[in-house]
Amino acid sequence: MTRQWAAAVVLMVAAINAARAEDYPARTVTMIVPFAAGGPADVTARIVADIFTRHLGQKFVVENAVGAGGTVGTLRAARAAPDGYTILSGHMGTNALASAFYPNLGYDPQKDFEPIGLSAEFPEMLVVRKDFPASNLTEFIAYAKANASKLNVGHAGLGSVSYIGCLLLNSAIGIKPTMVPFTGTAPVMNAMLTGEIDYECDPVLGTLGQVRAGNLKALAIAAKKRSPMLPDVPTSYEQGLPEFDCAPFYGVFAPLGTPQPIVEKLAEALNKGLGEEGVQKRLADLGADLIEPDRRGPKVLADVVRSETARLMPILKAAAEK
Ligand code: MLT
Repeated sequence: MTRQWAAAVVLMVAAINAARAEDYPARTVTMIVPFAAGGPADVTARIVADIFTRHLGQKFVVENAVGAGGTVGTLRAARAAPDGYTILSGHMGTNALASAFYPNLGYDPQKDFEPIGLSAEFPEMLVVRKDFPASNLTEFIAYAKANASKLNVGHAGLGSVSYIGCLLLNSAIGIKPTMVPFTGTAPVMNAMLTGEIDYECDPVLGTLGQVRAGNLKALAIAAKKRSPMLPDVPTSYEQGLPEFDCAPFYGVFAPLGTPQPIVEKLAEALNKGLGEEGVQKRLADLGADLIEPDRRGPKVLADVVRSETARLMPILKAAAEK
């Protein structure tokens, strides 16, 4: 092919892509959620999918693609065609810290995605089964130290945020209980209700309903401030364990190479949705920290991925080595 021909082909492909981006979305979009239905990742993603559906005029359908702490679904999203029709609702584990746990992840969280924007942040919370013999963090620590080998901790897989939260907790206490993986924390909660699992660390929304109903006990919020949804639950800081600090971000990502006009359309729709009173109420009622206007959009999400990776990677490596 002559140089002129090659240049013409490149221009033609660019023109076709631009036209496609202009029409976007022209059909149903799949949003991959790499954890089980009913848990924090899934519930957050469904709120976001509804925002996109309403603002972009096509159906955004959630598909739960679970396994390996969310890295199976995330890898699938990274390898999907970069045409805007497969996107990902990921979080601090899948899109920042997973590489601490998987040497051969198959994707680079910082390089293989086009960030769209943050959707929410949720503080985590330590929750124990109803008849666990502790009613606060001090009693929990004493019991856990004396009985560590008998305790089962539920989590959503190596590198998931529920795994990371309890890793920080366990290493601060100096215990190594049995870590039991599930495909998400919705099934962990069911296993706690039957007594198969003793405790978990999950974003507030995961267990809020069961804690309020008195079926599970919340012992500590893993953050500096209490959750307005559970104002009686003291923080880890108040109870003398500041190392238990975990508030994962949730965000939307598209595969690397997704045309910029599509990235911008998605970011604008998400921005509009997060500004809606109804969406804000819904997220706040679930225990979320809302994403303020100055923290919306692709650049902030890219910065958060970088800064959370830099901040937490050494802490996690130290905790895992303890
Ligand atoms: C879930 O949504 O199932 C979990 O919260 C995911 C996780 O722990 O990372």
